[in-house]
Amino acid sequence: MSQLVYLVAGARPNFMKIAPLIKELRLHKISYKLIHTGQHYDSNMSRIFFTDLGIQEPDISLNVGSASHAVQTAKIMIKFEKFLVKDKPLLVIVVGDVNSTLACTLVAKKLFINVAHVEAGLRSFDIRMPEEINRLLTDQISDLLFTTEESAEINLTREGITPSKISFVGNIMIDTLIMNLQKAKEINSLEKFNLKEKHYALLTLHRPSNVDTKKSLEKILRIIDYLQEKIKIFFPIHPRTQKNLNEFNLERYLQKKNIILSEPIGYLDFLNLMVNSKLILTDSGGIQEEASYLKIPILTLRKNTERPITVELGTNTIIGDDFNKAKNCIDMIFSNNYKIGKDIEKWDGNTAKRIINIIEEKFFSD
Ligand code: UD1
Repeated sequence: MSQLVYLVAGARPNFMKIAPLIKELRLHKISYKLIHTGQHYDSNMSRIFFTDLGIQEPDISLNVGSASHAVQTAKIMIKFEKFLVKDKPLLVIVVGDVNSTLACTLVAKKLFINVAHVEAGLRSFDIRMPEEINRLLTDQISDLLFTTEESAEINLTREGITPSKISFVGNIMIDTLIMNLQKAKEINSLEKFNLKEKHYALLTLHRPSNVDTKKSLEKILRIIDYLQEKIKIFFPIHPRTQKNLNEFNLERYLQKKNIILSEPIGYLDFLNLMVNSKLILTDSGGIQEEASYLKIPILTLRKNTERPITVELGTNTIIGDDFNKAKNCIDMIFSNNYKIGKDIEKWDGNTAKRIINIIEEKFFSD
């Protein structure tokens, strides 16, 4: 085994989790290689995050691209294995819950290489979500499990994970947010997208369970329709959603003067637009956490969340595709009766430090 660490990222929600880890690895003088699997590859789904967050060029690019789950996962495994065999790193760090996370974990463990999972233990208890499968399997075989909130530790313990593998370190994405907040506030995103502070809602939508059938997508579009009667909506559209809107002939719902459509946007613009928004409507995982940290009201278009602390302490409400629930919450926000949100333990900008300190002590102290 060499003294090398591999750090893996593959899809959009991974990129904001690796920047603070890179910074700490460098500070600790731990040699590492950054691997980009290429699960996301469009400039506005990938490159822009490297630019916005000042992330170096990947040392290794697997360029796998889009495909079915089986093909995409398998392609990552086949390509990743070659590099692992050659470099024999001491540790592979994976983040989040995307196909790249699971694929690289599987390959590493079968070569007896240690794996650390950042953002372990989150559970939606919805096995139809591809991410839930990725989370469950990654956590079962990882050696170090770094958690963001108390529920994660409870889940892992219930699943029989040895407690000494688990460390509650806080939320790595909040490290990135804190690092970039000032810079994001200084750019002119409102002007660029023709928006006014607190006079718009921000919308994101891409979960297969919401956008892959006409029926589910139409239900969500009805909620959006109610919201656009009250306030302007800014909607950067994910490629999957765009494709399905065209295929199901549903674009008419979005052709309204109060809805502004855009291509997916970069990290800094998105952060700026979150800070200045009146509310956020989303089916994303990470945005529930970012909005809670920023104390912006957020309504989640899913039946469950793997991040329950954002509901208990944060500004999040799970509304699913329930029109009445959505309407009630929207009305509460507009009458200033919506919950305020509290600070969350260890979401403080020091998570990467805690993680790399633990890794150093375990693997690099003589
Ligand atoms: C993936 C992750 C999900 C994450 C989401 C964020 C898994 C199982 N899912 O889902 O957890 O929340 O990313 O975006 O890993 N596409 C492009 N350009 C790209 C990337 C994708 O056009 O750069 C298109 C593909 O052709 C495909 C669709 O978007 O049709 C879906 O992409 P894919 O990465 O497979 O899944 P996501 O839905 O993005």
